[in-house]
Amino acid sequence: MTAPIVIDGKEASARLKTAIAVSVADLKAKHGITPGLATVLVGEDPASQVYVRSKQKTATAAGMNSFQHDLPASTSQADLLKLVHQLNADPAVHGILVQLPLPKHIDQFAVISALSPAKDVDGLHPERAGRLLAGGDALVACTPTGCLMLITDVMPNIAGKNAVVLGRSVLVGKPVSLLLLNENCTVTMAHSKTTDLPGLCRSADILVAAVGRPEMVRGDWIKKGAIVIDVGINRVATPDGKGKLVGDVHYAEAAQVAGAITPVPGGVGPMTIACLMVNTLKAACAIHAVTDVAVPTRLPPR
Ligand code: GUN
Repeated sequence: MTAPIVIDGKEASARLKTAIAVSVADLKAKHGITPGLATVLVGEDPASQVYVRSKQKTATAAGMNSFQHDLPASTSQADLLKLVHQLNADPAVHGILVQLPLPKHIDQFAVISALSPAKDVDGLHPERAGRLLAGGDALVACTPTGCLMLITDVMPNIAGKNAVVLGRSVLVGKPVSLLLLNENCTVTMAHSKTTDLPGLCRSADILVAAVGRPEMVRGDWIKKGAIVIDVGINRVATPDGKGKLVGDVHYAEAAQVAGAITPVPGGVGPMTIACLMVNTLKAACAIHAVTDVAVPTRLPPR
């Protein structure tokens, strides 16, 4: 058995963030434009607070402007929509991220649908999803974009490969399947009703697991040499009571068989925020019809 390539998401995201910072500086120098990212957080969920702070910090470190809107959990849907409309109209804002989940009294779909599609750096607006389906250039959801960048960093040409995607969420499963299809993979979307899941997974040259079930994918589900991308982040109990994070893939078993594999944590996770920066840069360039600034579509070489 040869050891698999451990796909280091931290190293990869650092490479990407360096390239983004160069492009942001280039956009400023050539056109006097500074990309601006607005984040909207409703309520005090600690995990969401950590994510949003990290997004703001990363934007600032890349040379972008960061505008933060923290609203109380009691905010009405009407007031949230009012803020979204203000941000849509604000010329300093090129990307808007409304952190999910929203409190239960707010209709998430209504808020996402109110975003200007040009500024929807999460790629969740129905128009953005439609553009991805149509195969056009789109602001695609950040985690799927990160998955594809990690895959093509290991194997630049994936045309003709069998890809199996576990999970069909709007945020990950569906868009990652479409991205792989756009790369000319043969894609199968698997879910809770799929029969013989282990057998199907064993046919995959590329396996993306995004189901939110701790260590569901076992070593004997994996084809020898496959690329395994684990999107799951699950907290499980440990005897010492501290708990730990595991993915949807049983890492120790899968690493015996896979050709390349992402760890959890430190795999896909760090790529999500880096891809949010790519989308903010991309949105700023598109809004101002700038075509002479590089927007990374792949990870830069090491
Ligand atoms: N909450 C968890 N993941 C995400 C994401 O990718 N975007 C937003 N807006 N909220 C999230």
